[in-house]
Amino acid sequence: MTYSDVLTAAREALSGVCAVCPVCDGKACRGQIPGVGGKGSGRAFTVCREFLDRVTLNMDVIHPHFEADTSVELFGRKFAYPFFAAPIGGMKLNYGGLLSESDYVQAVVDGTRAAGTFAWTGDGPDESIFQTTLPLIEAAGGAAVPTIKPWAQEKCLERIRELEDAGAMAFAMDVDSAALINLKLMGKPVFTKSTEELRELVEAAKVPFVVKGVMTPAAALRCAEAGCYGIVVSSHGGRVMEDAPAPASRLREIRKAVGASLKIFVDGGVRSGADVFKCLALGADAVLVGRPYAIAAFGGGAEGVQLLTEKLGAELAETMLMTGCRSLEEISESCLEIG
Ligand SMILES: Cc1cc2nc3c(=O)[nH]c(=O)nc-3n(C[C@H](O)[C@H](O)[C@H](O)COP(=O)(O)O)c2cc1C
Repeated sequence: MTYSDVLTAAREALSGVCAVCPVCDGKACRGQIPGVGGKGSGRAFTVCREFLDRVTLNMDVIHPHFEADTSVELFGRKFAYPFFAAPIGGMKLNYGGLLSESDYVQAVVDGTRAAGTFAWTGDGPDESIFQTTLPLIEAAGGAAVPTIKPWAQEKCLERIRELEDAGAMAFAMDVDSAALINLKLMGKPVFTKSTEELRELVEAAKVPFVVKGVMTPAAALRCAEAGCYGIVVSSHGGRVMEDAPAPASRLREIRKAVGASLKIFVDGGVRSGADVFKCLALGADAVLVGRPYAIAAFGGGAEGVQLLTEKLGAELAETMLMTGCRSLEEISESCLEIG
């Protein structure tokens, strides 16, 4: 199977749900929630690609030849690449139930692991969405990041105990779900979280905690104050607030504010190894990729996910060679221009 076969199969399997566009940019699926699109006009999704397309890279090949080292250390473990499958939940609601929740999670957990990385898994209004992930995370030796919704504190504490029992190496919370349409439609209460509430979760957990859905330096500083391991600069793929900017455009300001006190992940419109490079140059430690991983799983299961990971990894290594960066630490703002 080639990656092109994966896309062809996905286009057929996802007919009527996702057009599997040549570049997944949020235009064909504007407003499709439930579904795969961005909220309302869809501009919080389309702006992600528009921003990354404005960033160009400074080519420099006057240096001794090298094999770029793309590896990264996170959560005390080493991974082949600094990009991971973002949590995607709600297979029935968003993808028409073409894959079960557990088949989807199995494909992304196994496929990313086979390529030397890992997947973040999702949560949702139906209790089974979170529960099906637990045995799969356990079977993967804990190499996954379950991402829980911002439920009431007591329910979050329960979730933390469950994911720790499954051996998860870390966990995240998509705090930007506080007003998610899908959850509202199902009558499931979710809440914003104060610094004190985040601190309570950090203190209750034995594993690192990452807050997903942070878009300002001030909110990032509150996460640092609460003792979080990291943040995901994310607008939930443009699905929660129509007027959100491209998360990557916020990176430099957020990194400047928090320094090295937090690991910074980012997502939204990342579609190539060069995009991963751009995000690292703008200040991220690592990157999440959402919809393309779902497309890969629908088109080729775990093998499709592995192929996508290896394709992005090869593109990243090539970009590092072409910009003279031997390791991720050498990637800096001086490698890019913003037009
Ligand atoms: C259909 C769909 C379902 C999603 N479900 C979740 C989820 O359960 N939890 C979560 O934290 N993020 C969820 N996300 C957001 C992604 O994790 C990620 O932030 C976003 O898709 C990144 O943008 P990209 O798809 O442009 O790469 C979902 C996104 C989509 C498109």
